[in-house]
Amino acid sequence: MSDVQAAPAETSRGHAAPGDAGRGDAVPPGGWYEGDIERVVVDERRLAERVDELAAALAAEYDDNDSVLLVGVLKGAFVFMADFARALGRHGRHVEIEFMAISSYGQGVTSSGVVRILKDLDRDIAGRHVVVVEDIVDSGLTLSWLLRYLASRSAASVRVVALLRKPEAATVDVDVHYVGFDIPNEFVVGYGLDYAERYREVPYIGVLKPAVYTRS
Ligand code: IMP
Repeated sequence: MSDVQAAPAETSRGHAAPGDAGRGDAVPPGGWYEGDIERVVVDERRLAERVDELAAALAAEYDDNDSVLLVGVLKGAFVFMADFARALGRHGRHVEIEFMAISSYGQGVTSSGVVRILKDLDRDIAGRHVVVVEDIVDSGLTLSWLLRYLASRSAASVRVVALLRKPEAATVDVDVHYVGFDIPNEFVVGYGLDYAERYREVPYIGVLKPAVYTRS
């Protein structure tokens, strides 16, 4: 059985059900990190397929003349953002890019619930169709804070795309329109996600071996 929850029935327009990552549990050889990863949760092939599916679904929501502004949440979303923006381009949507940096975790693996802006938006978003691009929704605290923050800035619309979501970890109810994959409540790294600023370059989503946390 897969680590990743099977996709529930497709939802209404503007809300896409999460994808099925398949088994993908063998750690492929290669990379300095190979010995640190316990198992793969979403492999490279499923990541690429799902990013394209999400982009196709989101692209269909807009008209050719809509000005779509992607707001990526650093640092974790940088890899997803790059692939997602290019996939949207392939699906006929031109987009502009912004980044925000928000700190909620420090160096650990549990949410502090404390949100701090490290980098704000560089421009006004009034009248823009904003798409928040998140790496992962865990407790949901960061995202719900960010949506409140953006709500005061008069965007024409706000959509949320999250590559990963941990449904069992949610402590606040937050509306995520597009979810790549629902995953178990475990700490994952790769494809932009880090542990203590490492593993962001891992090309798949994987669970670290517990020994990594206890290393000094
Ligand atoms: P939340 O506020 O608990 O939803 O946490 C959101 C942020 O915490 C994400 O944008 C990540 O930066 C970080 N985070 C949560 N879970 C993980 C994980 O499993 N691996 C790496 N980072 C995580």
